Amino acid sequence: MSDTSLSDAVYGLPPAELADVPPGAVQVSPLVPGSARLEDCADLSLARVWMLAPPGTVERRFVLAQALRALRPGGDLLALAPKDRGGARLARELSDLGCGSAEEARRHHRICRVVRPEGALPLDAALSEGAPRHIDNLALCTQPGIFSWDRLDPGSALLLATLPALKGAGADLGCGLGILARAVLASPAVTALTLVDVDRRAVEMARRNVGDPRSSIRWADIRAADLGLTRLDFVVTNPPFHDGGAEDQKLGQVFIRRAAEALRPGGSLWLTANAHLPYERVLGEAFKAVTVKASAHGYKVFEARK
Ligand SMILES: C[S@@+](CC[C@H](N)C(=O)[O-])C[C@H]1O[C@@H](n2cnc3c(N)ncnc32)[C@H](O)[C@@H]1O
Repeated sequence: MSDTSLSDAVYGLPPAELADVPPGAVQVSPLVPGSARLEDCADLSLARVWMLAPPGTVERRFVLAQALRALRPGGDLLALAPKDRGGARLARELSDLGCGSAEEARRHHRICRVVRPEGALPLDAALSEGAPRHIDNLALCTQPGIFSWDRLDPGSALLLATLPALKGAGADLGCGLGILARAVLASPAVTALTLVDVDRRAVEMARRNVGDPRSSIRWADIRAADLGLTRLDFVVTNPPFHDGGAEDQKLGQVFIRRAAEALRPGGSLWLTANAHLPYERVLGEAFKAVTVKASAHGYKVFEARK
């Protein structure tokens, strides 16, 4: 579906002191629930795009190419990123996409301004490299930029190896591609499973990968949303511990509190985490009994009973 009504778009949250984004610019980041899809903007339709470019190389080249595809000739792109998280490569990447840029260094960022030239640009390789696809090693649909998009995360692998067959209604908080959800739904005693993720690409891929009538999938930020989940029998999660590229242990702690709120008394949280993360105290505060069920290769699996 094409949305031709947009004129100004912003991707992510560029620091206000580095990019003067007008209040009317429409958010197109997949990490902001409810935002528009940059992929749906019609070719040559946008007048201006501001972008805090993501750190992953394939993902960044894809979104730069999407922005240039959607910009009209003479339209402006301002793309910026911290120097050590892709910023140092922005000008070169834009040049590979057929665009010269004026580059500026400020506050540890590289800021590139582009006026989209007339005519066709060499965008196809970047657009196809970053697009959703099915990959055989996971046997799942996935897209660069999603957490662990092309391999099984070792923490998730340990949880999969440890998880018993679950029963009743539950949730998968931070569902990613739906790897944990698929394993949970293999148990016929599971009656319902709500999957939640802040990444729209993950939600779209989980819809394709899970496809089970007992599942429902929500694009939401666990920190903000009242998910309306109550009296659940179980929650599974491999919580994130990064936000915007920086380690954020508080995020995982919010996941634990949200899980505790969503469970019925006696319900269980199954959580996998990097062993160095300080989750024991929060688990102990929110749950009656906490047991380490597995520990290997730097990861731990907890069962916490409410
Ligand atoms: C460590 S990954 C686990 C993904 C998947 N469950 C797996 O095992 O492969 C954590 C997931 O949480 C999502 N996430 C991060 N912050 C979130 C938030 N505030 N609200 C909801 N989901 C979030 C990420 O997009 C990511 O998919």
